[in-house]
Formats: sequence, structure tokens, C-alpha cells
Amino acid sequence: MKTNRLLALLMASALMLAGCGTSDSSPESSGETVTASSSDSSDNSSYVRNSRFVDTSDYPSLKELYKDKFLFGCAISTKVQETPEYTELAVQQFNSYTAENAMKPEAVLLYSKAIADPEKYQEHAPITTKNMEACLEYAKANGFAVRGHTLVWHSQTPEWFFYKNYDRDGGELADRDLMLARMENYIKDVLEWTNENYPGLIYAWDVVNEAADDGSGMRQSLWYKTIGEDFVAKAFEFARKYAASDVKLFYNDYNSYQTRKQNDILKFLKPIAEAGNLDGMGMQSHIGEYLNVTDYFSAMKRYHDELGVEIQITELDIGKNNKDDWELSQGAFYAQFFSSLLKTIDEGVPVTSVTLWGLTDDMSWREGENALVFNADLSRKEAFKGIVSAIK
Ligand code: G3I
Repeated sequence: MKTNRLLALLMASALMLAGCGTSDSSPESSGETVTASSSDSSDNSSYVRNSRFVDTSDYPSLKELYKDKFLFGCAISTKVQETPEYTELAVQQFNSYTAENAMKPEAVLLYSKAIADPEKYQEHAPITTKNMEACLEYAKANGFAVRGHTLVWHSQTPEWFFYKNYDRDGGELADRDLMLARMENYIKDVLEWTNENYPGLIYAWDVVNEAADDGSGMRQSLWYKTIGEDFVAKAFEFARKYAASDVKLFYNDYNSYQTRKQNDILKFLKPIAEAGNLDGMGMQSHIGEYLNVTDYFSAMKRYHDELGVEIQITELDIGKNNKDDWELSQGAFYAQFFSSLLKTIDEGVPVTSVTLWGLTDDMSWREGENALVFNADLSRKEAFKGIVSAIK
């Protein structure tokens, strides 16, 4: 049995016992006992393999196939971390880890402590490192490099964080100076804690997520309302101040290939890139077969050309169409997408990692759209075969 597979299984079990993070329900654990791997007969470790999962041991590995191109990642939920079969597949396929939810501000900021003495914590909200620690221990034990997701976002940041005295019922919004202090302290705390405890593990952070509006201009978020439109620049300034030199600072957004949104994003990112505070553009890529692949990769090239930064595809999933043969069609689309990606890299665009936003269709945030590459029973979809065929 390969060491990393054993570690993966042990770590998943340990985390299950520790009840890490905010847990989803675990699968039933009845099933046959199998040898964890048949590849090395010198190790007779075994575990109870849940019979609702197929054997995945002979799958080609995406991280191996693409190892000369970029890191291949997956968004991992606590449910994946707690389930040995999910972890085994994730370790076989991927070498980059993004916490699907457990490293977002709502999983880090600590309301109970803040509200116990709001004056004391007025400028410096207390945090808990418990959820981040569970994620980073898991990533470390399983050999994943980590994308940190995310520091400054309008969503999954508790509303109380934006109010004077952390008033949960609203009241008065914090003013610009107060929010700048809170932002700086939050970024400092997270970046310094992760670097001190897990040096070299996190290779990129999504410093700001989704600041562009779906209409036009900047999203009217509580970050925007309290600080003003330079909140993005300030976040990157603070991140640069506290991040270790080997951590890349990313802006991350969805529909970032669309011309209007791209123009808006470039407008606020250009001065940040010129100041030397931006290292990368994250194109989330929650897409469907409607996507004009040529336009998408032209947009990718434009980010690189105009900002002078590297690119990562941070949250890829491709929803199915409504036809009977959707699975074949989705597989062909995944193949076309990855072929175009490889061509774009060959043309000189530095794409340093690609992350699928979830492991199996049943765990995807896009319920009913079957947007990922593995079925619930871990069997391979045409989508998986499409990604494999693009590089073979
Ligand atoms: O934590 C609560 C839990 O206590 C409660 O029991 C449970 C009941 O439904 O809800 C849990 O919260 C859920 C949370 O995920 C954690 O599991 C929320 O309902 C659910 O809405 C939330 O969804 C996440 C979503 O971000 C929220 O914006 C998705 O899992 C996650 O995949 C998604 O990821 C985002 C990226 O971070 C940014 N880009 C878009 C992407 C897709 O929306």
C-alpha cells in the first residue's frame, strides 16, 4: 500500500473521530472488508469499504497526467475529509486542496468572544483556528498543496462583523477606519497563523472574492459600503504586508470571462497589479456547454497580458445540458475545454493550477446539474474521460 494512501485513510479516520469542522452527515459504514490497496502485498492494512462505492484503484490519475502542466485540485468538504473512500479517490487524483467552506471568514471569526467584550475587540475581531487547523492537518497528511479560500468576501462573512460593537441586530454600520482596522487584523491573523503553523503549505490565497457586480461596476457589498471602492486595493495591500513571500495573492471571480465583467475587473485590478500587490487572477469557471470556449481563453490571455499575472482556474464545474445524451456531450465538452487550455498554455499563458469544485455530482453545490467528473458511487463519468483524453 502506498504511504500516502495509508496516510489518507488514517487521517480521514482521525478527523472523523475528532469531529473536525462543521460536519455533514457521514455515510453508513456497513459493507465488505477489503484490502485498502492490492498494489503492495507487503502491507496487509485493511478497512471496511462501503459497498455503495465502486473500486477506483485502477483509475488514471489527473494529477499525474497533468503534472508537467499545473497543479490539479479539488474543493474538499468536511464530508470528503470524514469518508475514507472519498479521501482515497481525492488523494489518487489531486495534488491541490481548497476547503469548500471551512476556511471562509464565517468558519474563522468568533462571535461568542467578540460579543462578550465588544469594546475590547472593536478593531480586532477574535478568531478561532480550529476549522483551519483541521483542513490544513488533513491537507498536510494527504500531500496536498493548498489554495487558501478566501479572506475578503461579501458572502459567508457574518453580518455582525460589519457593525459597530458586533451588533447582530444591525444598528450602526462600522465606519471606514474601523472596518479597515478589522480587515487588516483579520488578514494579519490568518496569514501569520497559517504561515507560522504550516509554512510552505499554502501556495495561493484568494485575497478578494467576487467584488465585481453582476450588473456593472463594483458589487454594493458591506465591504464596499463601509470602506468604499478601494477596499479591494486595501485588502491586497494588507495581504502583501503579512503574507510569506512564497504565497501568491489572487483575485477570484465567476463569469470573469464575460467582456463587461472582465472590463470592470481589469479596471480595479490594474492599479493593484501596478503596485505589485497582485500575483494572480482566479477564474472560477462555473460554466455550461453554452460557453464560447474561444472567448473564454481569449479572456484568460487578456488577464495575463494586461495584468502581468499568472492564472488559475479555481472552481471548475460544467453543468449538463437537457438532452438525453447529456453525459456524452458533457464529456466531449470537458475534453474540448482542456484541449483549449493546453493550447493556451503552449501559447505562453501561465496557468499554475486547475481546481474542480467538488468531488462527486451528489456533493456539488450545483444540485441536479451533474457538473463534476465522478458519480456518487465514485464511478468515472465521460467528463473524467474527457479530461484524460485531452492530455493523452
Ligand atoms: O454550515 C451550515 C450548517 O450548520 C447547516 O446545518 C447547513 C444546513 O443546510 O448549512 C450549512 O451551511 C451551508 C454551507 O455551504 C456549509 O456547508 C450553506 O447552507 C450552503 O449554502 C453553503 O454553500 C456553499 C456556498 O459556497 C455558499 O456561498 C457551498 O457549499 C460552496 O460550494 C460554495 O462555494 C462558492 C465559492 O466559495 C465561491 N464561488 C462560488 C462557489 C459556489 O457557490
